[in-house]
Amino acid sequence: CLKKVDTLLRRNIGTNAVVAQGEALCKEESDVKDGSQSLYAVQAKRQEQAERSVLISCLSKTNEKKFVKYLSKYGDIQKYFFYESYGMYAVIEYTNQESVSSLLEDTAFPSFSHECMVPFKSRLLSLRNIGSADSAHRQLCQPQTTVPINTLIERLSREESIDQQVTALTEAYQLTEENIRLRFLVCSLLKDIAAAYFPECSIKPFGSSVNGYGKLGCDLDMILDLDGISGRKAKMPKAGLFMEYQMKSENSERDVTKSILSVIGECVDRFGPGCVGVQKILNARCPLVRFSHQPSGFQCDLTANNRVAIKSTELLYLYGELDPRVRSLVFTVRCWARTHAITSSIPGAWITNFSLTFMVLFFLQKRSPPIIPTLDHLRALAGPEDKSLIEGNDCTFVSDFSKIRPLSNTETLEKLLCEFFEFYSTFSFSQKSINVRKGKEQNKPEVAPLHIQNPFETSLNVSKNVNAVQLERFIALCQESSWLLQQSETRTPGVSTDGNTATPWGLATLLMPSQIAAVRSGKKRRREPASERIKGLLESLKKDN
Ligand code: CTP
Ligand code: MG
Repeated sequence: CLKKVDTLLRRNIGTNAVVAQGEALCKEESDVKDGSQSLYAVQAKRQEQAERSVLISCLSKTNEKKFVKYLSKYGDIQKYFFYESYGMYAVIEYTNQESVSSLLEDTAFPSFSHECMVPFKSRLLSLRNIGSADSAHRQLCQPQTTVPINTLIERLSREESIDQQVTALTEAYQLTEENIRLRFLVCSLLKDIAAAYFPECSIKPFGSSVNGYGKLGCDLDMILDLDGISGRKAKMPKAGLFMEYQMKSENSERDVTKSILSVIGECVDRFGPGCVGVQKILNARCPLVRFSHQPSGFQCDLTANNRVAIKSTELLYLYGELDPRVRSLVFTVRCWARTHAITSSIPGAWITNFSLTFMVLFFLQKRSPPIIPTLDHLRALAGPEDKSLIEGNDCTFVSDFSKIRPLSNTETLEKLLCEFFEFYSTFSFSQKSINVRKGKEQNKPEVAPLHIQNPFETSLNVSKNVNAVQLERFIALCQESSWLLQQSETRTPGVSTDGNTATPWGLATLLMPSQIAAVRSGKKRRREPASERIKGLLESLKKDN
């Protein structure tokens, strides 16, 4: 219980520290932590905040006081912050949306003698200054990227327990309040483009931007939601006259999605300020438009009609909110996997973060007593308002967190981390499938090196892309990490050698690249130079690439 309080306290101290800087300058106090609200409620609040916000490219020597004073002419500012991404930017959130409208009314058109502008007005603006340049400037820049791995290793080495290391890693890697606001703002800016065709649409983030496991720098997955248009059915009379819209039709829902994304993608490419490198990937299982949003630095994936993905995002969010150990363990395993190139930002035969998250959740369901309930249990707790059937898939589960009884497991993060590696070192991947719905391994329904059942589209394997080589690497690294965590020298806090740097120990040791080679998959565990087998695996990997 004390550990839990400690974790929560540490988490809150971290978040408060970030927000406190902004508080000194603006009135915003809330939103430090959304509490155990449903993802739906959190999203609605954040979307509304984003609608009242503008994104401004600033001059390098922006005088903060003057800048804020100028913008305050248009209304009260609720919150603002500066960040850097190929230049200085500011997010300004007004208290009322009318302030945004009056600012835009006063905003000038750019005038370049050698270029012609596409006259698309958006809430992405540039600060200009006529006359003398500002001298004084003071900006609180919010980080947009995580700390480099060596800095993290050093930071973790100074902690006094593995539990503290796991918590420190989570704090260093999780999305900041500001980064989340920026993500919602980018969605809102894109919605303004899509609204040219579909005025009642909304664009919502999903995936790791909102499921609680997002790391600074993760991509921004978005969904164009047209349910507000097509889902809102006008009441049909039992008899008599009524009106119906005339609409074009396509052969399938997929074709509708493809044509909508194609047009929106074209618009983003031609008219969207700051959107570059637009690619339409319409023949993928889930059609999408991919691009970079330069002012935020986000790599964006825009999809449509992807409601099951929203449900899986809600489910992951719920699990993360049930117990702070869930998020911490997911962050740690994700970071460990990225460090050892088990995961990659390039699509391929690698295990994805999404799959890894299910592996952690499944492991937590298998503890005795379990740390999180099965999806079947969450389904049993659902009320009529939670019923959800999407394209024939049962996506029903409870949304009211208070209906879920806390479980009595009190294991420490250290214990869980060791056990996670041990669990997957010996898991029968060749025979069994990971099943979060049942919380029990099932016989594999198909031949695939790694089988993780998609909890909602149960005929799908979340890790279909993973090949045998990548799975073997994962197992070998789990074995090595499990072995390392059993060594007394790994478990003993590092002694500061020069008063500044501490010798890597505990979790920090697991993140050190030099350690990965010392494993021989399924054989005797030794700490020695790279085995022939690992070299072979690396060679075959190079060939694959
Ligand atoms: N998704 C899915 N099935 C997959 C892959 C992805 O349903 N096989 C959905 C999930 O809802 C996932 C989202 O698409 O959260 C975004 O996918 P991705 O960006 O790959 O994963 P994230 O969870 O966002 O993690 P990351 O931080 O790596 O972006
Ligand atoms: Mg993502």
